[in-house]
Amino acid sequence: MEQKGKELKVSAIENGTVLDHIPADQLFKVINILDLQHSPHPITFGTNLDSKMLGKKAIIKISGKFFKDEELNRVALVAPSANVNIIRNYEVVEKRKIAIPEIIEGIAKCSNPKCVTNHQKIKTIFTVITHNGATKLHCHYCEKETPIENVEVNSML
Ligand code: CTP
Ligand code: ZN
Repeated sequence: MEQKGKELKVSAIENGTVLDHIPADQLFKVINILDLQHSPHPITFGTNLDSKMLGKKAIIKISGKFFKDEELNRVALVAPSANVNIIRNYEVVEKRKIAIPEIIEGIAKCSNPKCVTNHQKIKTIFTVITHNGATKLHCHYCEKETPIENVEVNSML
């Protein structure tokens, strides 16, 4: 860790992906969604870092790993404010916002206790609907709509 001005920074990486502006309380959900606990790559993260935008933010750096868009977009489910920096040779070569996918398969749980996906080994499928600024997941199996802020997540596997 290096101290730069008033900001506490996690060390720079040579190559890989930096996820920044993650709300601090969503860090472990993001780790879970990207299945980082099973990753062989060097990973550093910081949390409860000061952010003007979020109050407290978290940041995750994965060395040597470049994700597919659909993998990163799953993160938007729990951290829509997150952004992605692609690092090559210590330089930020690309900055990307992530977008909530239209269909979410496998990672979110249905909030209906009676839903078949909570009783059998069936992959969940939701369509994402946004109405009057509120985003909800509509279950393909039981039609229940769950507000995105209440969604519980499983890892990708
Ligand atoms: N970063 C890194 N390793 C590098 C270069 C950058 O880990 N070799 C990280 C920085 O620590 C930062 C993020 O990638 O968290 C984006 O870098 P940069 O665009 O330089 O920072 P900011 O201008 O603060 O980005 P933003 O405006 O998106 O907050
Ligand atoms: Zn359901």
